[in-house]
Formats: sequence, C-alpha cells, structure tokens
Amino acid sequence: MPSINAPRGTRDILPGESWKWSYIINTASKVMKDFGFREIHLPVFEHTELFSRGVGETTDIVEKEMYTFNDRAGRSITLRPEATAGVMRAAIENNLCVQGANAKLWSWGPMFRHERPQKGRYRQFYQIDSECLGIAGPGADVEIISLSIELFRRLGLRNLEVVINSVGCEKCRPVYRQKLVEYFTAHESELCETCKGRLSRNPLRILDCKNESCGRVSDDAPDIFDSLCDECRGHFAQVREGLEQLGFTYTINKRLVRGLDYYTKTAYEILSGDLGAQNAVAGGGRYDNLSQAIGGGKIPGVGFACGLDRVALVMEEQGCTFGEAPGISVYCAALDDESRGMIQSLTYELRKAGISAECDTAGKSFKSQMKIAGACKFACIVGADERMNNTVAVKNLSDGTQVSVPVNEAVKYLEGKI
Ligand code: HAM
Repeated sequence: MPSINAPRGTRDILPGESWKWSYIINTASKVMKDFGFREIHLPVFEHTELFSRGVGETTDIVEKEMYTFNDRAGRSITLRPEATAGVMRAAIENNLCVQGANAKLWSWGPMFRHERPQKGRYRQFYQIDSECLGIAGPGADVEIISLSIELFRRLGLRNLEVVINSVGCEKCRPVYRQKLVEYFTAHESELCETCKGRLSRNPLRILDCKNESCGRVSDDAPDIFDSLCDECRGHFAQVREGLEQLGFTYTINKRLVRGLDYYTKTAYEILSGDLGAQNAVAGGGRYDNLSQAIGGGKIPGVGFACGLDRVALVMEEQGCTFGEAPGISVYCAALDDESRGMIQSLTYELRKAGISAECDTAGKSFKSQMKIAGACKFACIVGADERMNNTVAVKNLSDGTQVSVPVNEAVKYLEGKI
C-alpha cells in the first residue's frame, strides 16, 4: 500500500526543531507578561461569517485561501486563517470590553491558508498574536509596535526593518478609494489580470501588487496622505512621535495596505532581509471597525501577529541561539540483567527530583548503554557488587572520575553536582 504523507503545505515540527519553537514561545510569553498582556486560547475553527465579515469579502484570504467546509449539521465552518477576528469575537462574547474596559490579550497557535507553498509560506503555519482592545489613542499603537520590536530584540534577530503607514478610516478612505479607481481605470491596460479584478473590488490592494507593471503604475498613483482626514493625520503623527521617543527607526511606505480589510489608521510590518520573497516576520495595525463588522459594539483595537515558522527560519539563518539544547543529565546503566530493576527505580527517583535521567528499557548491552551515556553529564552504574553493597558507581563523564555512593544518597549527591 502506498504510504501516506502530510498534506502539501504542512510539515511536522520534529524534536530537532520543536525545542527551538518552545524557546521562541517561552520568550514571547515573558515579553507579553512584561507588557501586561494576558494569554488566551481560542478555537481553531469558527463560523465562516466571522472571517467573511471581519477580514473582508474581497480579500485574497476570504476569496480564495480559506479552508471552509460544512459540518455535519450543515453549518459553514472555517479553519481560522488568522487570529484577530477570533480574539475580537471572544472579547464581545465574553464581555471583556464592557463600559470602556480594555483587554490586552495574546495567543499562539496554528492558522490555515490555502496559499502556494514556498520558503516561509505554509498552508498550516503558526502565529504569535497579540491584541490590545478598547483603546483608541495612538499610545496603544506605539505599545504594540514596541512589543513586537522587543520580542525580536530578545530573540536576537538582526537586520529588521519596521515599515509603517496609515490606511485612513471610514471617513477618508472612500475618498482615497475613488481617487484610486479613477487613476487605475485610466491605466487599466497596464495592470495584471488580478489587479484588473481588484479595480472594482479592492483598488487599494493594487498598491502592493508585486507585478512589475502594476508597481510602475502605482509609483505615480495618488498619495494616501493627500486624502487622510485630520484625525487620521494627527493619529499617524502621534504614532511617529511615540516611536521616535522610544528611539526606534522606521520607514514609511505609503503603499503598505496589508491583505486584511479591517485595518484603519495604522498599518505596519516588520521585514527581514533574510527571508526571500516572504519577508514579513510580523504584521499588524489598528482595526477600529472590526467589532461592529462582526456584530459587536464600538471596540477599537490594535495588534500584530508574527509568523513563528518565519521567525525560526530567520533565527536559524542568522545563527541566533535558542537557549540550552535539551539533553539528559544522568544515564543509569545496568552491567547485567539482574541490575535492570534497580537501575529503573534509581532513574525514577532522579526524575522525581527533577533531574533528567534515562535508562535502557530495550535490553541493550552494557557497551551500547555506555555509548548513549556519552552524551550525558553523569552515568550511574549498577552491577553485582553494587547490588550486594546497595551502592551505585557514579561516573563523571566529563573528567572520567568515579565514586561509589550509597544508593539512597545518589539523588542527593547528584543534586549537588548538576
Ligand atoms: P498577516 O500579515 O496576514 O496578518 O500575518 C501575520 C504574519 O503571519 C506574517 O507577517 C507572517 O510572518 C505570518 N504568515 C502569514 N501567512 C503565512 C503563511 N502562509 N506561512 C507562514 N507564515 C505566514 C494577520 O494575520 C493579522 N491578523 C495580524 C494582526 C493582528 N493585525 C492586527 N492584529
């Protein structure tokens, strides 16, 4: 029978890699705590409507990338393509932001998008996501951007670029949108087929199309800053000021529109030069109308998500460290079969004391056991003599010295050495 492989665009995170992921998540957890964000966990599937209304009907994600199916009761269900809409849904459903209360939440887990797989782009990928709900002022935008920068600083990432923009709000964006429609209609023949379709549905997206000809046309497109209302203009200026006060450098890219429709005012990305085409390690922004789009009251929000897979890739490429590699401290080896029972209980006692310990349960020879022990700090050896005297030979594997220790003192002895 043919063997079954993982679906295209998915992959197994094996032990050689998973400990590095744990390091990244533990670091994120600490940074989130330092910034006052609390952890939440949400379902990986939601009602499809959450994303079609929240992320936007005309986005690539909703139009062609979602894993959507009918469940057994005939309801349309979607594997979450991103976390923000779900976090907002949870905040509304659980009354986290009533009467002006705000909520600073973070989460991590798998997201699903049916995209063409390539380096740094998967169909099941992982995000570390953080959202600040209930605060409309620019200070929250600065906090979110500084949180993402601090996360990458602690992870040791280098050569990152912070790119920011303002995409306006429900008051000024329609004016800008109209200007774009007029401009791009006059240049329709120069646009790629996808952008010709975007012209009526989502003209802002043409601005960040990677096609060369679309890029040339976009170079001379109307400038969003000529259309921003006073409020959006003031908000952007304050975000810039806040970032500068914290000592951050950033660039403004007026063509950064992001692929999700819920953004208002601030949009930003953090890019890495070490990733190739999929160069965004994080993206985010403000979304003051998302709550109402999914049936909630007025809850402004700002947040970001970083791609765990991509962060791990960049860290690997930049030679970053991932903390201490997992390893076993003590290997307990039996010289003969009669000693295996004693070895197994000693191993268990060490583990109970929080010392990582291993012993053979596969019937390996003493020689093979000691070969494995070579990767540990200490070996505890038991044979006929030790059994008779109720002792254990403790061998320091880095300097080769060996001492005999009463078996009931072995844990204490090793606790003092490791
Ligand atoms: P996004 O830009 O779609 O934004 O995704 C955020 C990050 O997730 C990207 O910068 C990238 O690192 C990673 N990512 C996205 N798609 C893939 C993929 N197919 N494979 C690997 N990594 C990927 C959002 O999802 C928004 N919800 C972010 C946000 C939070 N905005 C406000 N709050």
